[in-house]
Amino acid sequence: MAAPRDPNAAPHVPVLLRPLLQAVAPVHGTWIDGTFGAGGYSRGLLEAGADKVIGIDRDPLAHQMAAEWIGQYEGRLELVEDNFANMDAHAEGVDGVVLDLGVSSMQLDRAERGFSFQKDGPLDMRMEQSGETAADLVKRLDETTLADVLYTFGEERASRRIAKAIVRERAVEPIETTARLSSIVEACLPRPKPGQSHPATRSFQALRIAVNDEYGALWRGLMAAERALKPGGLLAVVTFHSVEDRMVKRFLQARAGRLNTVSRYEPQVEAEQPRFELVTRKAVGPDDEELAQNPRSRSARLRVGRRTAAEAGDIESGVLSMPQLRGKS
Ligand SMILES: C[S@@+](CC[C@H](N)C(=O)[O-])C[C@H]1O[C@@H](n2cnc3c(N)ncnc32)[C@H](O)[C@@H]1O
Repeated sequence: MAAPRDPNAAPHVPVLLRPLLQAVAPVHGTWIDGTFGAGGYSRGLLEAGADKVIGIDRDPLAHQMAAEWIGQYEGRLELVEDNFANMDAHAEGVDGVVLDLGVSSMQLDRAERGFSFQKDGPLDMRMEQSGETAADLVKRLDETTLADVLYTFGEERASRRIAKAIVRERAVEPIETTARLSSIVEACLPRPKPGQSHPATRSFQALRIAVNDEYGALWRGLMAAERALKPGGLLAVVTFHSVEDRMVKRFLQARAGRLNTVSRYEPQVEAEQPRFELVTRKAVGPDDEELAQNPRSRSARLRVGRRTAAEAGDIESGVLSMPQLRGKS
């Protein structure tokens, strides 16, 4: 059954689609869209000339919503419910892979998904709609680990203060809603100045990343894309915050043999056959027109690489500067 549509929800507006299609033109053959969402990228690729798109999304909602319109592409669009970290299990020798990281407007707009501090709902945040929720994490983690999650995944400088308040408040009553967590975080931080983000932004981002293992999925997904692409195939990734952009940048640079490893603080990378060439030397952001139409695109960055014929392999997460919780290696 199709999910009921929230009449107040704006449809998801694809970000950086035009520069992405320009960077990968001419589009042909089979593509993987690893973050199908509302299907904006898949449709764009099909309309630009792809013969077939395999749309992957870990969220069952994306699949329910697509059921209403997928028929119009007459078999050229195939949907798979999975994590993009497993993309090479669904297709190999593909002409291109696109990833548009983060959450969709459909996920943010639905209070019952618990992604947004602006809408009260259960403290859930699971893209897959199964496994441990954000409420479970907030209940289970000890104070030090909670602070580590907030600092490592949200770059929240008041992480210790917030973790202490969470532990104090959960002893009074379980923290099970987005509004309650948001008000606990808000009480720990100064009132934001005009133009500053809501005080709960970083804590919500941190919990969402932890619940969905987003950095781990990106690391494994980049390796899976390397295995799935044929020589000459293109990898295009759109990120929304600096940590993810840095991971993608370092992956492509390392795979293109261009990672500067002279710093004594950074892991040494052995010279290998380049597995990618850089198509974009610098990250591409939105132009003025897109910024005016969709302010949400402000922090989006696109990077594109072209696969060489060198054999695929693994890469250490440290090479990508992937943030890790202290207890984990
Ligand atoms: C920003 S939206 C993509 C929007 C899409 N490009 C469009 O134009 O409609 C991100 C989507 O990727 C999905 N997603 C995020 N991480 C994923 C992962 N590791 N594996 C599969 N899907 C993922 C989310 O569930 C969400 O639907």
